[in-house]
Amino acid sequence: MAKVFVDAQAARAIGKGAMIVFKAGVVRTEGSIRPGDVVEVYTRAGRFLGKGFANPNSNIMVRLVTKDPDTDINKELFRERIRKANEYRKKVLGYDKAYRMVYGEADYLPGLIVDRFNEIASLQISSAGMERFKMDVAEAIMEAEPEIETVFEKNTGRARRREGLPEVERVLLGKKKYRTVIKEGRARFIVDMRGQKTGFFLDQRENRIALEKYVKPGMRVLDVFTYTGGFAIHAAVSGAEEVVAVDKSPKAIEMARENAKLNGVEERMEFIVGSAFQVMEDMIKRGEKFDIVILDPPAFVQHEKDLKRGLRAYFNVNYSGLRLVKEGGILVTASCSQHVDMQLFKDMIIAAAAKAGKFLKLLEPYRTQAPDHPILMASKDTEYLKALFFYVEEAK
Ligand SMILES: C[S@@+](CC[C@H](N)C(=O)[O-])C[C@H]1O[C@@H](n2cnc3c(N)ncnc32)[C@H](O)[C@@H]1O
Repeated sequence: MAKVFVDAQAARAIGKGAMIVFKAGVVRTEGSIRPGDVVEVYTRAGRFLGKGFANPNSNIMVRLVTKDPDTDINKELFRERIRKANEYRKKVLGYDKAYRMVYGEADYLPGLIVDRFNEIASLQISSAGMERFKMDVAEAIMEAEPEIETVFEKNTGRARRREGLPEVERVLLGKKKYRTVIKEGRARFIVDMRGQKTGFFLDQRENRIALEKYVKPGMRVLDVFTYTGGFAIHAAVSGAEEVVAVDKSPKAIEMARENAKLNGVEERMEFIVGSAFQVMEDMIKRGEKFDIVILDPPAFVQHEKDLKRGLRAYFNVNYSGLRLVKEGGILVTASCSQHVDMQLFKDMIIAAAAKAGKFLKLLEPYRTQAPDHPILMASKDTEYLKALFFYVEEAK
């Protein structure tokens, strides 16, 4: 087995619980390494640190799977870890039919994401090493949760391309099924695995449900970046009189319309396909106001180097969103950029509020991703979602 030797900083990080070795921390290698090979990781002085999947073509040189020299990386190991990950969601967190079953390194399964929607599991693999175990993983998912009849592979996106893996989207194992209806709080959603990500943004589940209690009959609500109607449907089923939902994806809006029908709220909903920036600008010009505005944009900062530009985009969206909130209304604002931490996000919203002449009170404790996307204390990479609920007043 090839060996990878790392510097003191990388070794310290692993000692504290990190499961990723960045290329920058590698001092030398021994033996030939192809993408996906299992390698051993050592300190510069030769102390064993762990074993994992290597990819010499990626910025992440090794994704550790185990720190135990006697544990073999094989089908049995993945079967056991998937079983445990599923059990954690069901027994500890109390999830039932729709939840993230596996969240990569947080479940000691680097490069693997599995979302369960009733009888369908939608998986995404983003490491060359995990790719080699794809069929074993699919079988293990069905074994861990006998109600699952279909394993769909949603292997598309940037992370795949970065690892040099082909993009595929198809049923990998079991019945040919792409769609199912899930229940979430008071709302129901059609999930189509062929949509964005694994088909649905489960990470905002608790935040969407938290919105329900703020919605009162007669309210006017705006959901920007709605995808398939996420927050908007919750607002409508909770009694809002009028809900406007915006997304640039026609496919997403088509599905949002279907979701409105499914919930019997289509008459109180309006859908707009368009760029959020332009749509909000036009609304401001027309003098429109809403009791609640929700902003859940895509990750504007994909890489550290894009931080400044991305923060500007968050600022612009939030500045516009704040101008659309009525006096004494509510703003729900989120960021799923891992590189924008809570402090940066808070600084951005403070600046946007100052420019808009608004005074913000935090309504909810700081909110983050749903607990089926566990945050590993030692790994900053596992913590990415921020969602803040504000009461908005004119600054006096
Ligand atoms: C994080 S998702 C929103 C998830 C949604 N809030 C939910 O609960 O399911 C971001 C959405 O923003 C949309 N989007 C990306 N850029 C946009 C833009 N410039 N204007 C409008 N929508 C955009 C994407 O199509 C995607 O549906």
